Amino acid sequence: MIRIPGRRPRAGWEGWDEYAPFYDWENARTVGRRDVRFWRDLAGRVGGPVLELGCGTGRVALPLARACVSLVGIDRSEAMLAGARRRLRRAATRALLVRGDITSLPFEPATFPLVIAPYGILQSLLSDRQLACALASVARVVRPDGLFGVDLVADVPRWQEYQHRITLRGRRGPRGLPVALVESVRQDPRRKLTIFDQEYIEGSGRARHATRFSVAFRTLSVPAMTKRLERAGFQIDALLGDYNGRPWDPRADTWLILARRDGDKVTR
Ligand SMILES: C[S@@+](CC[C@H](N)C(=O)[O-])C[C@H]1O[C@@H](n2cnc3c(N)ncnc32)[C@H](O)[C@@H]1O
Repeated sequence: MIRIPGRRPRAGWEGWDEYAPFYDWENARTVGRRDVRFWRDLAGRVGGPVLELGCGTGRVALPLARACVSLVGIDRSEAMLAGARRRLRRAATRALLVRGDITSLPFEPATFPLVIAPYGILQSLLSDRQLACALASVARVVRPDGLFGVDLVADVPRWQEYQHRITLRGRRGPRGLPVALVESVRQDPRRKLTIFDQEYIEGSGRARHATRFSVAFRTLSVPAMTKRLERAGFQIDALLGDYNGRPWDPRADTWLILARRDGDKVTR
């Protein structure tokens, strides 16, 4: 196989502005809503305000806000946030959406009884230093004894490498045109990164238009993540292996961690 060297992503927030027009269309065919009930029930039990890290186009934020949870979403991509705003407006639902980076959260200390990190958002932090900054930032804005829910995407390091494979196709894509996703997957075991090079081709013939971008995710194991959470001042409440509450084991497809801010260690 001829290997076509791809670009090395410098940061995990890169690529999402270009991804934004296609994100909902792709996710309706992949992750769907499988985790939404879990987050909605948790938010219903704990109460708000709830902070969602990397809220994107509102796949999780919208149903939570609809369930009358007071929801604050933060994301670095203005294009992803614009999608979330459109969806909220269409649903006549309110949530506070903030543009910012999860490594330095722009909120007052001890604001949130619940912070959630769905769909592998912490794996968008490509270095230990960025992860430590994000965890310290969450520890600061979550209330003493408040909860931090983390969902890690388990299968990124197991993703088989391939090049230029058509992985999705539709007669009517997100902009009403025929669309195909041509994808390459690269593994960088040294940096523990999985890189998706995506090319969305819309239209046909001379009117064909391609949008290219790369997104990278870091492998984080459950044991490594729990250690880092403990170091940041959290105690582990539960490790779950599915969205119905089954306990986690290393073969589980879902890696969910519920961590509680240690009330005795709160620093301001
Ligand atoms: C996998 S999407 C998840 C979106 C949404 N939570 C969902 O479940 O569909 C990851 C999101 O995290 C955002 N993101 C990545 N790195 C970030 C960072 N350092 N600070 C804030 N947002 C970030 C991206 O812009 C993107 O919208």
